Amino acid sequence: MRDDELLQQVVKAAEDAGSLILDRLGQHQKVEHKGAVDLVTEADKASERLLVERLSAVLPEASILAEEGSGVERSARVRWVVDPLDGTTNYAHGYPVFSVSIALERDGTVVLGVVLDPTRNECFTAVHGLGAFLNGQPIHVSATPDLDAALLVTGFPYDVRTTARDNLTQFRRFMKTAQAIRRGGSAALDLCYVACGRFDGYWEESLSPWDIAAGVLIVQEAKGRVTGYLGTPPDIESGHIIATNGRIHESMQTILTEIEREAGLPSLGTRQFKKK
Ligand code: IPD
Ligand code: CA
Ligand code: CA
Repeated sequence: MRDDELLQQVVKAAEDAGSLILDRLGQHQKVEHKGAVDLVTEADKASERLLVERLSAVLPEASILAEEGSGVERSARVRWVVDPLDGTTNYAHGYPVFSVSIALERDGTVVLGVVLDPTRNECFTAVHGLGAFLNGQPIHVSATPDLDAALLVTGFPYDVRTTARDNLTQFRRFMKTAQAIRRGGSAALDLCYVACGRFDGYWEESLSPWDIAAGVLIVQEAKGRVTGYLGTPPDIESGHIIATNGRIHESMQTILTEIEREAGLPSLGTRQFKKK
């Protein structure tokens, strides 16, 4: 089956996971800590169980990399990359900004991405080479010409209390140069909002592949630009990313590169995603 034909099945799986998450929103749930401020709820786990089952039925040969650990190793060439609930901290507090993110990789390249926001009924999709869509309508990045007029978004790592790479140097620099900055709390949605022009640029580090795999393709297919902090081609396992409307990319990259050279931070490579 072609990837565009798979898309509807993936969207249906994301919608069902989204309904499951929404049904449990606000209910008293067991919240566990993976780290000091890194949470996991019963909804994360139930959504992941549903998605692993459904995606295994869609492509029985494909491996699955999923955040909460219930993925499976099968084909070395075809892999689903799944975040069953992106924005868990928001979710646990009842702040309605969270999503389900599903990507399909072939030979290490993301070819299909779906990000579903169940609270707004917004489904962002892309298939490599076929454009990006929001609820079936084509989307594209903003035309904001420079950083001065740009609305940016970012996020902070879960070990922010202890790491020197806490994103505060970068946050301060962009706070003084851009129009404004938001902290959304769902990396997958941050990327989709760049793709549809609500944000002009996004940067973040210490990310995992499931946070960004689908969103990166959606930005690229919406004619945006995605690189690592130093301008390298996007690598979902490197953990660091700049995603923009293209027009402000050089300015953001220059600032991030300067900080790498001058701020005396531990090197970027130390935060790379490690396969277990
Ligand atoms: C987190 C969110 C957040 C980002 C964190 C991610 P989770 O994912 O995407 O926006 O800043 O780095 O870990 O834990 O809610 O799935
Ligand atoms: Ca995530
Ligand atoms: Ca998650």
